[in-house]
Amino acid sequence: MTDTIGQVGRDDSLKELAPKLVHEARNILNAMRAQLALLKKKVASNAQGIERHTATLDRLIVDLDSLFHSFLTYARPNRSTLQPVDVCQIASEVLDFVSLDLQQSRVEVVQDISPDVPPVRADRDRLRSVLLNLVLNAKQAMPDGGRLTVRIRPACDEGVLVEVQDTGQGMKKEIQEKIFEPFFSTKPGGTGLGLAIVRQAVDEMGGRIEVQSEEGRGTIFRLWLPVAGQVMTQAAEQPANR
Ligand SMILES: Nc1ncnc2c1ncn2[C@@H]1O[C@H](COP(=O)(O)OP(=O)(O)OP(=O)(O)O)[C@@H](O)[C@H]1O
Ligand SMILES: [Mg+2]
Repeated sequence: MTDTIGQVGRDDSLKELAPKLVHEARNILNAMRAQLALLKKKVASNAQGIERHTATLDRLIVDLDSLFHSFLTYARPNRSTLQPVDVCQIASEVLDFVSLDLQQSRVEVVQDISPDVPPVRADRDRLRSVLLNLVLNAKQAMPDGGRLTVRIRPACDEGVLVEVQDTGQGMKKEIQEKIFEPFFSTKPGGTGLGLAIVRQAVDEMGGRIEVQSEEGRGTIFRLWLPVAGQVMTQAAEQPANR
């Protein structure tokens, strides 16, 4: 048996999450059944407007797939391979990847990258997914456009500080307290697993994450990552702002 206390704790929390996953999946399935009933009626009476229902069904199938995919990422994350990683390069790659999407959403991007950022100790793929989740959340918080700023700089004995800031809708305190909980979402079609995956990855990389937000003004996520080959100080080992 290779079970550790951590593994037992993890299995317990997965048991608690299973009913929530089923609940979310059933909501989507119920919505699909309702669309199918409308579709059947229209087909039977040769009515117009069938495409609207097939498009909604398509979207709901994507939502269900994304729910299962995110849940598996959360429940069974790949083993981290921690190695020296250039976080500035990963941030640029992520911003390139979503640049068209950001442009279409009228989001201006500002990259404020310090020239002397050391390599961090991270898992490359998981760090990419952390930054992508933060950037996508920032974009979604600015439906009418705005400014996304990514700042990266050394933070003395706290490793490297990465900030992802938006000028979007911001969050009330009550919302901020729940955002890292699995399945917490205020978005239609959101799985609410994005930030749970982010926090899990950051914890496993030995970093920490905090949020600062003001309703109507915007949000900053601050992420501290350990420098490759250095041990984080006590200050950096405080629990994340949860
Ligand atoms: N930059 C942000 N500005 C405002 N609210 C945010 C921001 N980032 C996260 N949130 C809030 O935190 C909630 C949880 O975010 P999370 O990324 O975990 O899930 P989601 O974005 O709702 O769904 P998914 O990531 O699966 O698409 C969001 O629904 C939103 O209410
Ligand atoms: Mg998200």
